[in-house]
Amino acid sequence: MQEKLIEKGKQWLANTYTRFPIVVTKGEGCWLWDMDGRRYLDFLSGIAVCNLGHAPKSVVEALTHQAGRLFHVSNLFHTEVQIRAAELLVEYSFADKVFFCNSGAEANEAAIKLARRYSWKKYGEGRSEIIAMQNSFHGRTMATLSATGQTKFHVGFNPLLEGFTFVPFNDWAALEKAISEKTCAVILELIQSEGGVYVADKEYIKLIHELAVQKDILLIFDEVQTGMGRTGKLFGYQHYGIEPDVISLAKALGGGFPVGAIIAKEAAASAFEPGTHASTFGGNALASSAVVATINTLVGEGIVANSDKMGKILVEGLLALKRKFPIIVDVRGLGLLLGVEVSTPGEPLVQEFLKEGIILYAAKGNVLRLLPPLIISREEVDLFLDIAAKVFERQKS
Ligand SMILES: Cc1ncc(COP(=O)(O)O)c(C=O)c1O
Repeated sequence: MQEKLIEKGKQWLANTYTRFPIVVTKGEGCWLWDMDGRRYLDFLSGIAVCNLGHAPKSVVEALTHQAGRLFHVSNLFHTEVQIRAAELLVEYSFADKVFFCNSGAEANEAAIKLARRYSWKKYGEGRSEIIAMQNSFHGRTMATLSATGQTKFHVGFNPLLEGFTFVPFNDWAALEKAISEKTCAVILELIQSEGGVYVADKEYIKLIHELAVQKDILLIFDEVQTGMGRTGKLFGYQHYGIEPDVISLAKALGGGFPVGAIIAKEAAASAFEPGTHASTFGGNALASSAVVATINTLVGEGIVANSDKMGKILVEGLLALKRKFPIIVDVRGLGLLLGVEVSTPGEPLVQEFLKEGIILYAAKGNVLRLLPPLIISREEVDLFLDIAAKVFERQKS
């Protein structure tokens, strides 16, 4: 049954993903079920989307309620629910204003456009360059691809957008040297997740912030993956003791419902005026109802705190495994955005975990990425660690 459907999928769906060989029919909490009724512990969360787990009650209720009233009117109108979603994002962050869109790439597109427009309004033409990081990932549209510092994603898509300069991540001297009178922004992820789970150093971020303030360069954090509680704080920047100018969000922002946003300080946000940027669907009533429910649940039900707590327990357990199994080279990350670097290719290990009923994913060839829902329990963390020990033990023979 599953195999037949998978064959049909291969026939009709664009060949852009190497998919797991299962058809998922149901999700609840941290668990997924396939068509044959087999259950899996989800350590991927739809690639860092389902932070509240699958079918979270509050989001289901909010969407159901909103769907019966109003899906969409476009941004030519005000809706109470969109204003509430923006109010919550402002209340819980450094930001003054919110622009809603539909995905992470779109959020980064908006951030890139905002930075150029801000600089153009204040300083005129010629100050349009953006410093980005080697090994970064910002999305698959042409501008976000151009900001992505991994050439493997660029192959066959040239010419890319002009005006991006790449520097090594966590290298202050290289960044300081790259900044010129043409620079309008610096964009970076606080954890390079697709890049293999590398965390930005505190001192590095402080220095970038200082220089950005001094030179009136916009500091943009791509928090598409690190946002919404993933790192053990609601936003990743809250680990660093500074405030950026702009943050891009998506993935977990709607608890699984597609929605993205940039949140920005007033000075930066004011570069957008009517007609400068737009999105037909951006933050429509349905999406906004999901945002409101997601934020209220993340904060109000202690889920961000659980991300921090379970993340620490998971790291402790992984470090114990590292002492036992030399195949584990490194354990890194923050909260529940963790990477386990192994000394062998990651993909066969992903398949071994799948056989044991655990879903996870590899980045950069040999880094197992652990992205469980933030609602995960101690028992589920322990179950994962037991199974991981079994999988790593098998690699010895
Ligand atoms: C850091 C980061 N930025 C941007 C994106 C692109 O998001 P989307 O796939 O929603 O366009 C991703 C997706 O993985 C991401 O991890």
